[in-house]
Amino acid sequence: MDIAVVTGASGGIGAAIAKAIAEKSGGQLAVCLHYNGNRQAAEALVKEIPGSFSVQADISTAEGRKTLLDAVLAKGTPFCLINNAGIDKPHEPALMISEEGFDKIISTNLKAPLFLMRDFAKEMARNESGVIVNISTVLARKAVVGSAVYRASKAALEALTLQFASELGPKGIRVVAVAPGFIETNMTASIPEEQRAGIKKDVALGSFGSPDAIAETVWHAIENQYLTGAVIAVDGGMSL
Ligand SMILES: NC(=O)c1ccc[n+]([C@@H]2O[C@H](COP(=O)([O-])OP(=O)(O)OC[C@H]3O[C@@H](n4cnc5c(N)ncnc54)[C@H](OP(=O)(O)O)[C@@H]3O)[C@@H](O)[C@H]2O)c1
Repeated sequence: MDIAVVTGASGGIGAAIAKAIAEKSGGQLAVCLHYNGNRQAAEALVKEIPGSFSVQADISTAEGRKTLLDAVLAKGTPFCLINNAGIDKPHEPALMISEEGFDKIISTNLKAPLFLMRDFAKEMARNESGVIVNISTVLARKAVVGSAVYRASKAALEALTLQFASELGPKGIRVVAVAPGFIETNMTASIPEEQRAGIKKDVALGSFGSPDAIAETVWHAIENQYLTGAVIAVDGGMSL
């Protein structure tokens, strides 16, 4: 069975991606719903998506990444890896950046997707086919106070996307990044109303986006056989 692995499927964007893959592939892809702490959300999703299964792992550690890989290999052949799990906190202004905060964000947003790409791509290369989609952010190209390390982690993830696309293309593996703008999920739920209004003024389309808008583009990246090494902005025009 070909498997699509979605990391952070217990979160807003990850859940939408998992549902879209299951629906649009017409059950051709079994979805691996990866989560870390939110077992309840993952279990609810397993009930909703036929043929899916969940795996708990802290992918900021080598042990957690191995747990995820082993669980997927026990079920079938990895065909898609969606590196979606991520954190944007702690928010630390430039002169307040802590080593602890740096290590936390970098190990989750950069180290985890890098080594998951390395290890899953080795498996995909055996069949000379696979697709990896990395979830970046509009903030990779925009300064917002408190987001320096988050921005750096995602800008580096975009660089890795291009590098892996170049090296893995000849092995039949495509690698794409999708860069969302501000999306309505738990990650943005605590932004105060006044700040939300300010952000919306920066968005050409004038609103936050829905997780489904990101899921649609991820599915497009999976389907489009000639797409690789691209960073696709889905941000309502915030990066313009
Ligand atoms: N929302 C936005 O406006 C926005 C904009 C641009 C980019 N993004 C990116 O989109 C992705 C998804 O964000 P979201 O908005 O859906 O956030 P979310 O609802 O907070 O979900 C984040 C997910 O990441 C998982 N996760 C965090 N740390 C982990 C770790 N160490 N090991 C394993 N899983 C971990 C969480 O798992 P548990 O909850 O199970 O612990 C959760 O499933 C992130 O990469 C984020 O940077 C979001």
